[in-house]
Amino acid sequence: MTTGVVLRDVTDVDLPAFFEHQLDAAANQMAAFTCEDPADEEGFAAHWAKIRGDDTICIRAVLFEGLVAGHIAKFERLGEPEVTYWIGRQHWGRGIATTALSQFLGEVEARPLYARAAKDNVASLRVLEKCGFVVFGEDRGFANARGEEIDEAILRLI
Ligand SMILES: CC(C)(COP(=O)(O)OP(=O)(O)OC[C@H]1O[C@@H](n2cnc3c(N)ncnc32)[C@H](O)[C@@H]1OP(=O)(O)O)[C@@H](O)C(=O)NCCC(=O)NCCS
Repeated sequence: MTTGVVLRDVTDVDLPAFFEHQLDAAANQMAAFTCEDPADEEGFAAHWAKIRGDDTICIRAVLFEGLVAGHIAKFERLGEPEVTYWIGRQHWGRGIATTALSQFLGEVEARPLYARAAKDNVASLRVLEKCGFVVFGEDRGFANARGEEIDEAILRLI
């Protein structure tokens, strides 16, 4: 586990960093199932106001050595709890996502807990597998960041 990773509630001060992360083309390509227009600042603000006000959603800012490195969240898809996360590119490859997810799993008690990743998002699949998620299904859907339908893996933590 990477030291220096802390999860805390999201504050308004974190939002500019999250918007910057959302603008990153390489990250969008990886995540694939993104919003239609990552550069839409009003859409970003409306989305974050909505999810921060939703009791069924649990979101944490991921700090690394005091800096806002990304976010992690649990939401519900058709009544099933699912996790998602996004780490800013300047922080990739240091074990931050793995450590953040591992800490978050101590906070979020719902099981089974689901996750999805584009089948070619090897980094995210590895993060999930290191935290105990197992691939148990697949789906296919339109990925805004790719402009086409792609395959998606569905993972589950029991
Ligand atoms: C996916 C993401 C969260 C990974 O974050 P991270 O902090 O770099 O992940 P970690 O450092 O914890 O790495 C976890 C594992 O993935 C591997 N990995 C990281 N980036 C990789 C890459 N580009 N290709 C292959 N493996 C990669 C690491 O080597 C590590 O495996 P290991 O311990 O066996 O060496 C980050 O790249 C990201 O936020 N991407 C954009 C948004 C996204 O895809 N979110 C997930 C949506 S499903």
